[in-house]
Amino acid sequence: MSKIEVLFDEKTINKRVKELAEELHNIYKDEEVIFVCTLKGAVFFACDLLKCYKGDARLEFLRVSSYEGESSTGKIDLKIPLKSESIYGKNVVIIEDIVDTGYTLDYIRKYVNGMNPKSLIECTLLDKKARRVVDINPTYSGFVIDDLFVIGYGLDYDQKYRNLPYIGVVVEK
Ligand code: IMP
Ligand code: MG
Repeated sequence: MSKIEVLFDEKTINKRVKELAEELHNIYKDEEVIFVCTLKGAVFFACDLLKCYKGDARLEFLRVSSYEGESSTGKIDLKIPLKSESIYGKNVVIIEDIVDTGYTLDYIRKYVNGMNPKSLIECTLLDKKARRVVDINPTYSGFVIDDLFVIGYGLDYDQKYRNLPYIGVVVEK
């Protein structure tokens, strides 16, 4: 097992996720919201966020892949699409694990927008702002982080480490 340094522990993550759920509920109040979780990375975040969300929520999944190893390719593949009837005329929140170059979120935003939602915002757990290539700013982000490759709480390195309950950085492979 590699040596991992903890960046955000479970308690810190839970507290921030709860705050985000409250902020989102303050926007929509009694209106229904479709949360679109992007697989696989955002799945832990989406589950926790929805458990804290006090309003009327539905959950949909979308899978894209863009990343190989530690570097973003900018080439996005849609692996699991959404059904347009679940988006058309609805309030939609895209749930992402991390925004890095921004290619993925930009792709997803355009894809979901093409299905004519009533409203569309994004909520990412992590934002590596300094690495942005595409001019896109998620509406909500849990934590802005430095240019570090992070793992855990859904985030992987070559499909490993998703199951860690905290977010960490691999310091020794
Ligand atoms: P972007 O298209 O460069 O913004 O990359 C976004 C996607 O790359 C995310 O949805 C993640 O799946 C993956 N990614 C970016 N940075 C990291 C990281 O530090 N750890 C794990 N996955 C990452
Ligand atoms: Mg992702």
